[in-house]
Amino acid sequence: TANITPAVAIGPATVGFGTFRSQASSGKDGARYASGAAGSGDAYFPYSGNGGYDVQHYDLALRYAPPTDPTVLTGKLSGVATITLRAKQDLQSLNFDLRGLDVAAVRVDGKAAAHGNSQGKDRAEWSQLQDDANRSWELTVGLRPKLKAGQTTTIVIAYGGITGRSLDTTEALYGWVTTADGAMVLNEPDGAATWYPVNDDPQDKATYLFRITVPAGKTAVANGLPVGMPATKAGWTTWTWRASDPMSSYLSTASVGDFALSRDGTSAGLPIINAIDDGVTDASLAETKAALALQPQMITFLETQFGPYPFESFGAIVDDDSVDYALETQTRPVYSEVADEYTVVHELGHQWFGNSVTPSDWQDIWLNEGWASYIEWLWAEHQGTASIPDQFADTVAYLDANDGWALNIADPGRDSLFANPVYLRGAAALYALRAEIGDDAFFAGANLWLTRYNDSNATTEDFQAVMEESSGQQLQTFFDDWLREGDRPAMP
Ligand code: ARG
Ligand code: ZN
Repeated sequence: TANITPAVAIGPATVGFGTFRSQASSGKDGARYASGAAGSGDAYFPYSGNGGYDVQHYDLALRYAPPTDPTVLTGKLSGVATITLRAKQDLQSLNFDLRGLDVAAVRVDGKAAAHGNSQGKDRAEWSQLQDDANRSWELTVGLRPKLKAGQTTTIVIAYGGITGRSLDTTEALYGWVTTADGAMVLNEPDGAATWYPVNDDPQDKATYLFRITVPAGKTAVANGLPVGMPATKAGWTTWTWRASDPMSSYLSTASVGDFALSRDGTSAGLPIINAIDDGVTDASLAETKAALALQPQMITFLETQFGPYPFESFGAIVDDDSVDYALETQTRPVYSEVADEYTVVHELGHQWFGNSVTPSDWQDIWLNEGWASYIEWLWAEHQGTASIPDQFADTVAYLDANDGWALNIADPGRDSLFANPVYLRGAAALYALRAEIGDDAFFAGANLWLTRYNDSNATTEDFQAVMEESSGQQLQTFFDDWLREGDRPAMP
């Protein structure tokens, strides 16, 4: 990776690309070429993601210098992103999301693009917009030649800057979280743009190659499987990981730390790779090791319930105590300070419910969190720790005592995506659904959902339709009562 000197100050857009509504102009051949929209139009994150194209593959060559003074949590990140994408409409320009990092150079199909507005000249061009108030962080690339629907192009973006600790809309740390010994990287919902130019829309799944260069002695861990051995040159080591299964950007990670790597696997041969930071010690380390040792059994158990594990590998990244939640990053969840047994099975459950089948829109988040929470109940029952009816009763008591039925979990609002009722009312709804339609229809429906929408996206309405199909029952009133109505539903 070349050293990249950020050459450009980030300021308001000065060129005519990158508006949210797409604009059109006529080409020589009479075709209408649109400016790809600067947002996906998601109700909660309208400027996350972009219109007009689909990314096939991200090749991310990153170079990262962690903090030199552990009390000042900033690092230096530079990257070269090679993005292969296919136009979904005739395009004269398109956007990537990129937040707080400076672009140095852009090439489109091997040709250098100009910075700024070269209107009238036959040359690709790029500009950046950083609009915090609208959460619109755009790199706009004007395309010359323009792109026809169905055509593929490769765009190379060199960029870099100082990393810090970004906050989501609820002020939780997320994205590229600089830690004393590296970085803990977990993007849900819209944090991927803090470390690479991205179409940050859960519906645009792509494959990834990560080549992460860090000071020798540091370890970089990403999704998927390692490629070759880490290579050290002049005091820097490059770690290469390939994620071959389609992945939404919020599930990508490239965490850096003083990690010890270990390998395990299921009896069926699925590789498990764990990374534990040396800041995890004593009781936390003992608990983490015990929980991670259960991963092969957890996978085997969940396969009996929900069919084959959907990806090429699994494992854990257990980092320091920087954040207060874990994330189901694809194939390799990230945990902070400790990976406890029920969090591990929760994040494993997300590999089926969330990662293989991903919500189309952020308002469908209960499909992730309700299922992952219900899977904790299944595991507790399987281990003989607590019966499912007892766990349901405890959850109902909690929701009763904490105004937990007030939230419409099928549209919880942007800043309540991860509120307790999304998890607990969601799990209770699945319990009630199973009671309503019976075990056979419930598990057949779950398996139909997972096969029909594997490597894809779906909505709450799609889920209801699948469950209606497997049960032969009309479930509109049931779903309204259990997900949407503002009071306690009739108990099963
Ligand atoms: N999906 C995570 C889980 O398994 C929670 C993510 C919370 N994210 C955030 N930005 N606060 O529970
Ligand atoms: Zn979860």
